[in-house]
Amino acid sequence: MTSEHNKEIDESKQGEAVLLEGTSNGNGKKLYVESYGCAMNFSDSEVVASIMAKEGYSTTRNVDEADVVLINTCSIRENAETRVRTRLGDLKQKKKNNPDLVIGILGCMAERLKKSLLDEEKLVDLIAGPDAYRDLPNLVEEVGTGQKAVNVLLSRDETYADISPVRLDQGGVSAFVSITRGCDNMCSFCVVPFTRGRERSRDPKTIVQECQDLFDKGYREVTLLGQNVDSYRWNLTSKGEIKDSAESTTNFAELMEMVAHVSPELRVRFSTSHPKDMTDDVLEVMAKYENICSNIHLPVQSGNSAVLERMNRGYSREWYLNRIEAIRRIVPNCGISTDIISGFCGETDEEHNDTLTLLDEVVFDFAYMYKYSERPKTLAERRFTDDISEEIKGKRLAEIVEKQREHAHICNLKQVGQIEKVLIEGFSKKSQEHMCGRNGKNSMIVFPKGDFNKGQYVMVKITSCTSATLLGEVVEVCATH
Ligand code: SAH
Ligand code: SF4
Ligand code: F3S
Repeated sequence: MTSEHNKEIDESKQGEAVLLEGTSNGNGKKLYVESYGCAMNFSDSEVVASIMAKEGYSTTRNVDEADVVLINTCSIRENAETRVRTRLGDLKQKKKNNPDLVIGILGCMAERLKKSLLDEEKLVDLIAGPDAYRDLPNLVEEVGTGQKAVNVLLSRDETYADISPVRLDQGGVSAFVSITRGCDNMCSFCVVPFTRGRERSRDPKTIVQECQDLFDKGYREVTLLGQNVDSYRWNLTSKGEIKDSAESTTNFAELMEMVAHVSPELRVRFSTSHPKDMTDDVLEVMAKYENICSNIHLPVQSGNSAVLERMNRGYSREWYLNRIEAIRRIVPNCGISTDIISGFCGETDEEHNDTLTLLDEVVFDFAYMYKYSERPKTLAERRFTDDISEEIKGKRLAEIVEKQREHAHICNLKQVGQIEKVLIEGFSKKSQEHMCGRNGKNSMIVFPKGDFNKGQYVMVKITSCTSATLLGEVVEVCATH
């Protein structure tokens, strides 16, 4: 169970589901949901759990006691799909032991492969795409009558705005909140526009309400999610006209400000920013509010303008570096992370070298790095040849990874000696004697557990580091308002 993109998702929580308390109209049936891919998928699984809870399903962490198993899948790279197919292989025996077990595929693979997945994977009973989750109870019922059930319709307006997601990590500190769905960008390498459909924004009132509810339940951090958060626009048509003049319009900077007002004790993060759309007004709002974390995930993909053009990213190397300069000017000490693809179609040694020099110029705190994986139907698959050998992709990726490891270490070393405000997330993965949490820049900091509790803010003096983690000691517990 791995996360394809947002590796910051706590690996230990992935694929987990928990028993819902207080399901009054329980039907005694149990749902097990397992999620792959990006934070959006993890967030959707919570919407799914909520829709099924209304039908009386309680969720379970134990796949063996489930009546319905739903796998929320990812298609971003070929290996993401391979992983899901391997997992389906594991489930074969369970289906043999219990022929009534309903096995469903949700998410991006469901949308990409549609009905054909039923022929390829005989044990699958149900296929539901990302905009079809309200139909899940009907689909499960259909399976109950001995049929296979499929709904992969994409919608132009579904945002599940009215659904209050069931948090699969009850008692958690940090939660994802979707603000947009889909993507209109058509980066040439990317399958997401095909699996998630057109971009649409969610009503800001429902977003703020969800954040308020989370805060009231004890959550202390929200991450606003969208494939391109900067294009959030409520109540405007794609032509920029106001849809309903009685209601005001809201852009991403304004939305973030509304969420920041929920409580100074609620941290606000967001992901993902797009270099072509990230504006200074978003940076100015970040600088204005202490509770908006100084951290931006700004995927660059490549440091070479010709490659960026082939990728249809809508910006050049110079534009990207200008955005980095704006971040550093307006939000000093901001953590900056990125995504990089090695070996895109036609990438020459010189073009690859430009990615390495861009890394040197920016010095990212963190990066997700991938080998290019050709995806069916994308612009790149239709227009270009996937002509870089696996060996060269691997060699280039290794160079990128090595450089990034050095840079992450440099960034961490710079923080040694500083005192940072940390939101405690729980025990450290490696030791029950230590707790851990992140600072605003999103660096993970580990410190002796003392009498501290998860969800508390503490000031931690950083004493040493590796390239992945900072170590420190608490110097002060922050007063609550
Ligand atoms: N919406 C985000 C990215 C979503 S996908 C954005 O525009 O930045 C997450 C990351 O997966 C991308 O940033 C890219 O680095 C990587 N990715 C997407 N398609 C890929 C492919 N075909 N091969 C390799 N990596 C890919
Ligand atoms: Fe994919 Fe580009 Fe949309 Fe990101 S912005 S999801 S990379 S098409
Ligand atoms: Fe994967 Fe779909 Fe997310 S392809 S990265 S789960 S939007």
